[in-house]
Amino acid sequence: MAPSHHFFWLLCLVDLCLGKIFTAPEQITSRRYDFVVFSMIRSDWSCYVVQPGPFAGCVVASRLSENPNVRVLVIEAGVSDNGTDSAVISTPILAGQGAGTVFDWNYTTTHQVGLNGRAFAYPRGFVMGGSSSLNAMIYQRGPRDDFDRLASVSGDPGWTWDNLQEFIFKNEKHVPAWNNRSDAGEYNPRVHGHGPLLSSLTATPWELDRRVMQTAADHSDEYPFNLDLNSGDGLGVGWIQTSVGNSARSSSSSAYLHPALDSRNNIDLLLHTQVTNLISSGSGSKLTGVQVSQNAHEYEFAATKEVILSAGSVGTPQILMLSGVGPKEELQKFGIKSVVDLPDVGRNLQDQAIVGLQWEAKAETLSGLLNDPAAFSAALAQYAINKTGIAAANSVVNSIAFLRLPDGSPLLKGGDPAAGPHAAHFEFAFLASPLGSKQRVELITGNSPQNTFLANDKQVGPTTGNWVSIAIVVQSPTSRGSINITSSSAFSYPTIDPAFYTTAFDIGTAIHAVKAAQEFFSKPAWDGFIGAPFSDATNLDTDAKIEAYVRKWAMSNKHPTSTARMSKNSDKSGVVGPDLLVKGIRGVRVVDASVLPFAVGGFPQAQVYIIAERAAALIKDAWCLN
Ligand SMILES: Cc1cc2nc3c(=O)[nH]c(=O)nc-3n(C[C@H](O)[C@H](O)[C@H](O)COP(=O)(O)OP(=O)(O)OC[C@H]3O[C@@H](n4cnc5c(N)ncnc54)[C@H](O)[C@@H]3O)c2cc1C
Ligand SMILES: *[C@@H]1O[C@H](CO)[C@@H](O)[C@H](O)[C@H]1NC(C)=O
Ligand SMILES: *[C@@H]1O[C@H](CO)[C@@H](O)[C@H](O)[C@H]1NC(C)=O
Ligand SMILES: *[C@@H]1O[C@H](CO)[C@@H](O)[C@H](O)[C@H]1NC(C)=O
Ligand SMILES: *[C@@H]1O[C@H](CO)[C@@H](O)[C@H](O)[C@H]1NC(C)=O
Ligand SMILES: *[C@@H]1O[C@H](CO)[C@@H](O)[C@H](O)[C@H]1NC(C)=O
Repeated sequence: MAPSHHFFWLLCLVDLCLGKIFTAPEQITSRRYDFVVFSMIRSDWSCYVVQPGPFAGCVVASRLSENPNVRVLVIEAGVSDNGTDSAVISTPILAGQGAGTVFDWNYTTTHQVGLNGRAFAYPRGFVMGGSSSLNAMIYQRGPRDDFDRLASVSGDPGWTWDNLQEFIFKNEKHVPAWNNRSDAGEYNPRVHGHGPLLSSLTATPWELDRRVMQTAADHSDEYPFNLDLNSGDGLGVGWIQTSVGNSARSSSSSAYLHPALDSRNNIDLLLHTQVTNLISSGSGSKLTGVQVSQNAHEYEFAATKEVILSAGSVGTPQILMLSGVGPKEELQKFGIKSVVDLPDVGRNLQDQAIVGLQWEAKAETLSGLLNDPAAFSAALAQYAINKTGIAAANSVVNSIAFLRLPDGSPLLKGGDPAAGPHAAHFEFAFLASPLGSKQRVELITGNSPQNTFLANDKQVGPTTGNWVSIAIVVQSPTSRGSINITSSSAFSYPTIDPAFYTTAFDIGTAIHAVKAAQEFFSKPAWDGFIGAPFSDATNLDTDAKIEAYVRKWAMSNKHPTSTARMSKNSDKSGVVGPDLLVKGIRGVRVVDASVLPFAVGGFPQAQVYIIAERAAALIKDAWCLN
């Protein structure tokens, strides 16, 4: 065999072995050079640049690469989710504990006027899968009303709940918990699909959950039991579904990106590489690619068809602004030439504040395990051996209630900010633990997380005894904040202001929700179970005291949306049209939580998966790739 043939086959094999994952842009440049060889087995190289790879990007990239004639490049600023240190993000019981570790961007909010001037950590995934690799894994679609409102504000009936069913079913599949516990009667199989993302119910229901369901049965008028909160009917009390399957976290990376990388040769992933801006054509009417940077070296990738921006509610407005797409005067301050004046880029940030209350429990909860490092280590060791045991499910929070303010509440005088009459104003998540849970991640990583899903880490929980908590979230906030760039460099963090509790509706609803939680636990179903509230939650018996408690302890539920919000093509305001294309310029689409015009009535990850599934179909249609 001639040497050139050896060379050819060697490269093919290396290519297959490597799984097309690069950690430096120049590795791709050199492959491009070798492309002379590969062009025999590959069609054109750079049809698509999909960037960044993360959450929704993984979904879109995976779907687009189903067509063998397109080439997809996924660019991710962060790290692999596949290394030896990944247990903190893949182990279900550690849900949310990757915050403050190598998997986190480590953003901080501005000082929050509505929270006594506090500023705090704002975790965002810095890893394949984005925040879907870091989140608390609750898989809770918004109600039908959310999608129907999206269709109406965008003028596209394709976004209604009914018309999205195909994409809802394409995303997710229900699987049993690791122990194969029967979950009949706790969800509705008919509203679940056949997608790659796995979801499951708890493996270990607690006495707490049994009593939550008993309260619903006893008071079905106030707290109706809802067989499946993912059915489009998002109100009432029900069992939490989490993105967990085969005893591990299911993320957009594990469900979509890894399988595509493992099985297709038309998708590549470039890690550790930050996109610094989008490149526009000479006339400025079209975006033609991206510029990336690693170790102060810059590289460009061309996209012959489109750039898909999935950098998230923080990263997307930042990159758009750095590329001259955003509020003109704001960009001028940093010497950035305006390409399209879109004042809404970075504006309208919505997030959901979360505040916890803790009560002593007179039955076993997860507290025992969390407060016993030896037992907790043993659970993690068992999980490491055969993926079984308490660590193999997200066992902290199994049940939830989505509730509305009473009709006629004075808080609704100015209009109802929920998406419709079947969408919640507030939510309780029932935690079988006190709020503090830091030692769990310390055991794994030696790191102290800056904050967790469960609580404000400054709000110390009890360290002995059994406890339960309620995490209270205002689901339909009216506060709107913003994200601004702070320099013309992509490496300067933007300012993030979720503007929590800056409206009378938001703080009023939080106060109402705390009273509703107290009332919920006073029902007969709780006799003999609920003990005293913890510490400074003891005498919360006036609105003023509740307000002070909320403003002292609330923080972010890490659900930012709306910083590149969708609107009708005919609207001057808004950032993307109903097809997710950025207004005023060709060649770039946004597919992430930033396009949602309103905070989600459920939890955002399901919404983003559904949007990404439809986005992939819209893109395939636009380029005749079906
Ligand atoms: C701690 C935590 C707990 C949460 N809990 C839940 C939950 O239980 N249920 C739920 O539904 N939602 C939860 N969420 C929210 C949910 O994960 C997000 O809504 C979802 O991931 C979508 O976020 P996003 O669109 O903002 O983008 P992300 O998922 O954050 O993805 C953005 C990606 O872009 C990459 N990126 C950004 N800028 C660049 C750049 N310049 N160059 C290259 N790459 C870049 C990032 O590294 C990241 O991978 C939680 C989030 C966090 C952080
Ligand atoms: C995951 O790990 C395997 C084995 O170490 C490796 O071959 C593969 O390239 C890794 N994938 C990513 C995306 O890092
Ligand atoms: C976030 O902080 C952790 C802990 O200090 C650190 O290990 C990690 O590298 C930081 N993330 C980034 C993107 O710098
Ligand atoms: C659960 O069921 C699967 C499929 O039948 C089986 O492989 C697995 O061993 C079972 N696990 C347990 C803990 O029973
Ligand atoms: C997993 O390991 C634990 C602890 O060693 C053991 O008790 C259990 O039986 C094992 N389970 C399976 C399904 O192998
Ligand atoms: C961003 O800039 C706008 C306009 O100058 C300002 O109103 C807003 O408060 C700023 N937000 C942040 C987070 O700095």
